[in-house]
Amino acid sequence: MSGSILVAYATRYGSTQEVAETMAATLRERGFEVDLQPAQDVKTLAGYQAIILGAPIFMSRWHKDARHFLTRHSIALATLPVAIFALGPTHADEKEFQEARQQLDTELAQFSWLTAYAVEIFGGKFDPAKFNIPYTLLPVLKNIPASDVRDWDAIRAWTSKLPAKLLWAPAYTGEVPSD
Ligand SMILES: Cc1cc2nc3c(=O)[nH]c(=O)nc-3n(C[C@H](O)[C@H](O)[C@H](O)COP(=O)(O)O)c2cc1C
Repeated sequence: MSGSILVAYATRYGSTQEVAETMAATLRERGFEVDLQPAQDVKTLAGYQAIILGAPIFMSRWHKDARHFLTRHSIALATLPVAIFALGPTHADEKEFQEARQQLDTELAQFSWLTAYAVEIFGGKFDPAKFNIPYTLLPVLKNIPASDVRDWDAIRAWTSKLPAKLLWAPAYTGEVPSD
């Protein structure tokens, strides 16, 4: 049976999957029923009360599996509460976060029917040792040091507020969103 909240994710090198896993665990700890699935594997949204969709940004584009997810499930998503997140910045640098947000907003603008209840950028993980084609063909990338600026406290805090925004669940005892 489907859970009431779906956490769907896309990933290339695994860091977004780990974030999605943490989100699912955070919600389960609070008593919510959660399904965690790669976005490309999701066949139907029937049975879900809310959707959380996350994916990394590469070369200014949100991962294609997330974009295809929105297209494939547009009819269902038009009437479901949706929260969106993206991983991108590889340094704890405000400008990088602003740029990533602009990149994500540009992508989401292509889905004019979508009203996301929450949209967030999280820092990502950059590990040249894991690169595969086509990025191995770009020597400049290999000289950039590895980094991991995923802020797990921020990820858990954002996730904890989602049920109130998405479900207005009576079981949720956190703060009521002001936006
Ligand atoms: C070749 C390459 C290009 C990237 N381009 C962007 C970008 O345009 N904007 C951004 O915010 N992050 C960019 N990133 C950072 C990734 O989004 C980040 O590493 C993310 O954590 C990867 O997620 P994954 O491990 O789930 O695949 C890029 C990373 C790589 C390796």
